[in-house]
Amino acid sequence: MYYPEELIEEVRSKNDIVDVVSGYVRLQKKGGNYWACCPFHGEKTPSFSVSGSRQMYHCFGCGVSGNVYTFVMQYENFSFPEAVKLLAERAGVTLPEVEYSEEQKRKAGKKARLLEINREAAKFFYVQLRSSRGTVGFQYLRKRELSDETMQRFGLGYAGKNGAELVQYLRSKGFEDDLIKEAGVASFSEKYGLVSQFWNRVMFPIQDINNRVIGFGGRVMGDGEPKYLNSPETQVFDKRRNLYGLNFARKARSGNIILCEGYMDVIAMHQAGFSQAVASLGTAFTPEQASLLKRYTENVLLAYDSDGAGVKAALRGIGILREAGLTGKVINMKPYKDPDEFMKALGREAFQERIDQAENSFFFEIRILAEQYDMSDPEAKTRFHREIAKRLCGFSEDAERDNYLQAIGEKYFIGIENLRKLVTGYAAQTGLAKPVERPRSGIRRKNDPEENARRNQRLLITWITDQPAVYQKVKKYIGVEDFTEELYRKVAERLFADLDAGSFNPAGIISTFEDEQEQHEAAQLFHASLPALATRQEREKAFHDILLSVKRNSYEYFSSRLGSDVNAMNKMVEGRRALEELAKLHISLD
Ligand code: GTP
Ligand code: MN
Repeated sequence: MYYPEELIEEVRSKNDIVDVVSGYVRLQKKGGNYWACCPFHGEKTPSFSVSGSRQMYHCFGCGVSGNVYTFVMQYENFSFPEAVKLLAERAGVTLPEVEYSEEQKRKAGKKARLLEINREAAKFFYVQLRSSRGTVGFQYLRKRELSDETMQRFGLGYAGKNGAELVQYLRSKGFEDDLIKEAGVASFSEKYGLVSQFWNRVMFPIQDINNRVIGFGGRVMGDGEPKYLNSPETQVFDKRRNLYGLNFARKARSGNIILCEGYMDVIAMHQAGFSQAVASLGTAFTPEQASLLKRYTENVLLAYDSDGAGVKAALRGIGILREAGLTGKVINMKPYKDPDEFMKALGREAFQERIDQAENSFFFEIRILAEQYDMSDPEAKTRFHREIAKRLCGFSEDAERDNYLQAIGEKYFIGIENLRKLVTGYAAQTGLAKPVERPRSGIRRKNDPEENARRNQRLLITWITDQPAVYQKVKKYIGVEDFTEELYRKVAERLFADLDAGSFNPAGIISTFEDEQEQHEAAQLFHASLPALATRQEREKAFHDILLSVKRNSYEYFSSRLGSDVNAMNKMVEGRRALEELAKLHISLD
């Protein structure tokens, strides 16, 4: 970790979560907690609660939770060190200078310079567009129906016909030629020396999620090749890992992100109020971009061109989203080519309807597949059905596969039983002992034993944090090693150590994890939904059940990993006995 743990804890304790969160959302006090509409998902009635005593927040709607660091990271999309910095400043705590190596300093210095050049170039283009020489660019963008406000929001600019001017400007700001070239905004030519990379084009600055200009796309006004010219990749411009418009989209809180093909699509969508639109950077959508999206949403809607190339790109995109564990849907743009044209022709309400009707990605794939078969030919039709069966085998979860099987069967008038036979046949024939691995669908599996085990471990920890007194009663039965999930074990270790020392500080435990995902997982441990039970008897029974399940799981977990020597056998017998004893035991909750 970057900073010493005590410092992290000091900064956290000096930033009251209620104060900090009130700076972002309007909180209302009800009972012991504060409530608001959740800033992390769209809702009309408040289910986002902030607890002053626990110094944590939790949303009963979307399930997010965490401490003050997690909140700032999630709201501002900050990294952990960035959140520490902001909160330290807020509380007047001075952070020690982090020691960088010479190499790191040089690299950081260079990156910063490249970013400065990009920013200066964006400023230069921006001013040009609004000068008399930029009229042609301005008119072009006007013709494409962009408002002044939109042009400003996206920092649109214009690169003039004199390629030397940008270079002169950058030199006057103190940048060396080599660096200007390395930033990708200019290149050497035999004839003219160092000149602007972009010439007589309208300019789209490309920003990263922190609003820093990292590159440009420049479009010819009218016909010409190439239509879009993009900055080359540089130390600060990684086309695989950034998305156009994500700096705005990440704050849209619309519950989904719309992935488009072009810059103009993104801009047109934002102008129409869909600020959740993003686009890849002149290259195909990548797995890196999918994981980037995953930080902000689970639902991605594809708004790709309606032509053949667009459909192909959508099919590819669906695969990538699926690999990343994201739910993909496809927006039908017909009869228009792309979102930009759709918006101009039919407007935002019609587009919203298309969003609502977006097609499940599996249905989309099958529909496109169907187009390749002549259904009047029985043989082709059979091949189509076989292909469906093959793809259904891609669902590893029985229930999910069967749901799709039924839906597809009905849609394409295939007898469900016949289709089922084909699936079983295919699985047997290809020797698929285990169907193709697919990422979890996001739908919780009710009968997943691992998830059940985790859930019981979460329940136990939440129960103990809700009633710390319980800990003293159960500590002789339960230990840190009974938490078989690594992250849970770490949390339990801290929690139990704190409780043994007579203190109680769940919010502090969360910030011992640096990774945002881990912080969230850790926070979930304190917010499992405990059964609401009326009588003490019921509560004691529920608690006993949970305790026993955790213990049983731990027993099974370890016995499956033990060797077969005498020692191991003894351990197993011992564990078995302890389990039986615990089963008979009565634990009172008062
Ligand atoms: P408009 O014609 O301005 O509406 O653009 P569009 O967004 O409809 O463009 P299109 O569907 O043709 O292309 C989508 C995206 O692909 C663009 O935003 C660019 O990022 C990229 N692109 C298009 N043409 C070129 C090109 O000639 N070269 C490169 N490198 N990228 C291109
Ligand atoms: Mn277009």
